[in-house]
Amino acid sequence: MARKFRTGHGCSGRLESIRLILDAEVAPSHPDKEDVMEYLRCKACGYIMEADKLGTVCPACGVPAAQLEAWTSPVKPARKRILDLHIHPVVVHFPQAYAASLVLFAVLLAVLPAGRLPGFLQITTLIMAAILPLCGLAAWASGTLDAKIRFRKVKAPLLIRKMVVGGLFILASLAAALVALTLGLSGTGLVVFAVLEVLTLGCGTFLGIWGSGLTNAAFPG
Ligand code: HEM
Repeated sequence: MARKFRTGHGCSGRLESIRLILDAEVAPSHPDKEDVMEYLRCKACGYIMEADKLGTVCPACGVPAAQLEAWTSPVKPARKRILDLHIHPVVVHFPQAYAASLVLFAVLLAVLPAGRLPGFLQITTLIMAAILPLCGLAAWASGTLDAKIRFRKVKAPLLIRKMVVGGLFILASLAAALVALTLGLSGTGLVVFAVLEVLTLGCGTFLGIWGSGLTNAAFPG
């Protein structure tokens, strides 16, 4: 199997040992014309990286480069390319950050004495509360798309749970936005708003915990 390595930068011994490992261990599980990307996996920490990006140590845990072995992705390149865009993990930063910030803002609005700062904070809170359901919707849609590409179907227990709790996230954040816009962000309005934002953040926390467990899972082929 022909393998290309950069040479001439003083690491030929290390590169040679990696070449030997690759030649000895890589048996293509699905010989596919597209499957030209070569990967290495760290024996110590499990980190997976493109073979030609290896330096002198594992970028994740720092063990010497010789500790990395050849690794063949079980997922076909076209699917892997989409998964590698990490669309859902990127999109979810917005609802997660907004939900946590809005809980904090609700607490600040309850404790800060009247003045200019709470005035600005109220406007910021209103705007962010109105945007949060849309961020939740984007997270829900990108999560469902990610799950469909990863597992080909979304009717598995954990995925159904994520869709239901994701829906609850959207509804709770929508209700909080409506409360803020109609009742205002003081007195009873602020208390109801805070409770709904805490519920939203709770959903977001569980969605994240369940989601991080799904990150490295995908059907082969
Ligand atoms: C408001 C809705 C949602 C939120 C806030 C959310 C949040 C998250 C978070 C924080 C992660 C972890 C990302 C990481 O570790 O980098 C994640 C991963 C994941 N979620 Fe969601 N999720 C939502 C909805 C959904 C839905 C509806 C599904 C589909 C059933 C889903 C499927 C997944 C999958 C497959 C992963 C692993 C994806 C990857 O790492 O590329 N999520 N989610």
